[in-house]
Amino acid sequence: MAQLVPVDTFDLIIFGGTGDLAMRKLLPALYHRDLDGQITADSRIVAASRGAMTREEYLAKVEAGLRDNLREGEFDDAHWHSFSERIHYAQTDAFAHDEWQGLVDLLGGHEDRVRVAYLATAPSLFGAVAKGMKHNGLVTAQGRIVLEKPLGHDYESACEINNEVGACYAENQIFRIDHYLGKETVQNLLALRFANSLFEPLWRRSAIDNVQITVAEDLGVGGRVEFYDRVGALRDMVQNHILQLVCLFAMEPPSSLHHDAVRDEKIKVLRSLRPIKAEDVKAKTVRGQYSAGAINKQTVPGYIDELQGNKSTAETFVALKLEIENWRWSNVPFYLRTGKRLEEKHSEIVVQFQNVPHSIFPQQKYDVSPNLLRIRLQPDEGVKLSVMAKQPGPGGFDLQQVALDLSFEETFDVRYPDAYERLLMEVLRGNPALFMRRDEVEAAWHWIDGIIEGWETSKQKAEAYVAGSWGPTASSLLLDRDGRAWHTDQDS
Ligand code: BG6
Repeated sequence: MAQLVPVDTFDLIIFGGTGDLAMRKLLPALYHRDLDGQITADSRIVAASRGAMTREEYLAKVEAGLRDNLREGEFDDAHWHSFSERIHYAQTDAFAHDEWQGLVDLLGGHEDRVRVAYLATAPSLFGAVAKGMKHNGLVTAQGRIVLEKPLGHDYESACEINNEVGACYAENQIFRIDHYLGKETVQNLLALRFANSLFEPLWRRSAIDNVQITVAEDLGVGGRVEFYDRVGALRDMVQNHILQLVCLFAMEPPSSLHHDAVRDEKIKVLRSLRPIKAEDVKAKTVRGQYSAGAINKQTVPGYIDELQGNKSTAETFVALKLEIENWRWSNVPFYLRTGKRLEEKHSEIVVQFQNVPHSIFPQQKYDVSPNLLRIRLQPDEGVKLSVMAKQPGPGGFDLQQVALDLSFEETFDVRYPDAYERLLMEVLRGNPALFMRRDEVEAAWHWIDGIIEGWETSKQKAEAYVAGSWGPTASSLLLDRDGRAWHTDQDS
């Protein structure tokens, strides 16, 4: 396991410190890093939120949150005692900049420390908080600001946020989170591509027939229904997580792991995406919305029931055919799909290689399936390569697809840290490699806006799909039209 080096002493201010993200992800992540000795004794975590609350009340909330969100056996009373000593609370209204005295007093005299403002809030507060930090003289040379997704609602609002925050912090101080970039297995994609010479000659149009990316969830939108209904699956998952996967998969080899080297290559992919125009949306996109069904033998309500019967046009499923217009990927379709309330939580990238150019095995009797490389992101992370093999025994060639299967969990018998643990440490170290640069976010929105405009112009509706299925039938037809099909687990 890589050696864990403590980060420099810091003050981390979590705006939205009482919210869901702070409780579910940020504080458990910090607790783990503290447990592993990566946080120096003097470092502090300051929750900033609008409500009036004493420090003791906030600590009680954090303790309950940790007990709920850490895995069984991870909460330790003695460690909680030392961890809690770093935690403070400052009542802070994002818009009332002249009333930030509590926060100013807490931070005063520690200007030489790394100071991170983490915005676990709605994007409508991003500009206001950045301005508040500047107005109160809290932006220091060692200052950083972290923006949670969604970064805006479209290209224009993203630019507006970037301008507002950019007026208070320099670009190299701004960390735009896409938590997929902190996932171990997403990082492993870089290791797979660039620490092995085996794949690179094959990573191109001459060897690959198509690429399929699935990010499926079995959960519904639950308590987030109000937010989700304004957003939908395309903005929630494709604009950020899935396009980042496409970039890491498809980019040219960067000259190093330096943040700009990697991001310079990713932006080229985003700029090479063929626009999906109004006249293309019917053929290249599918929208779906779940109706009631059953998952794991449990009945679950439909999306509209969760919205308490209100009408909605939001999509909870989207499938797309994406094309990259460059020498490496011309004519290699990337089929993407993501959705809520699908059969199971399952994310993977499947690379389908070209068929053999000529089969020497009699076609009618023996089927030569194309090789598949499956990069499983979650759960049970790993890599699986399917190859054709001859079944043992006399009497001709009985071919069968068999798999070389590498499970990371079995190979590396260690706890997989949550993405936020890594991302928070990278912010504190000041390394922006795993965060999105301004131009990336804007280029991604630009492409997504084209699809949304197309949907509006063509009035493309979300088709119903039964919860527990793999989405609407149109999703299968998207590939069927090209003579292809989604790969399932059964394809070996
Ligand atoms: C978030 C989306 O960014 O990612 C959620 O807003 C989604 O809707 C989540 O459920 C999925 O993350 P993960 O890590 O569970 O794949």
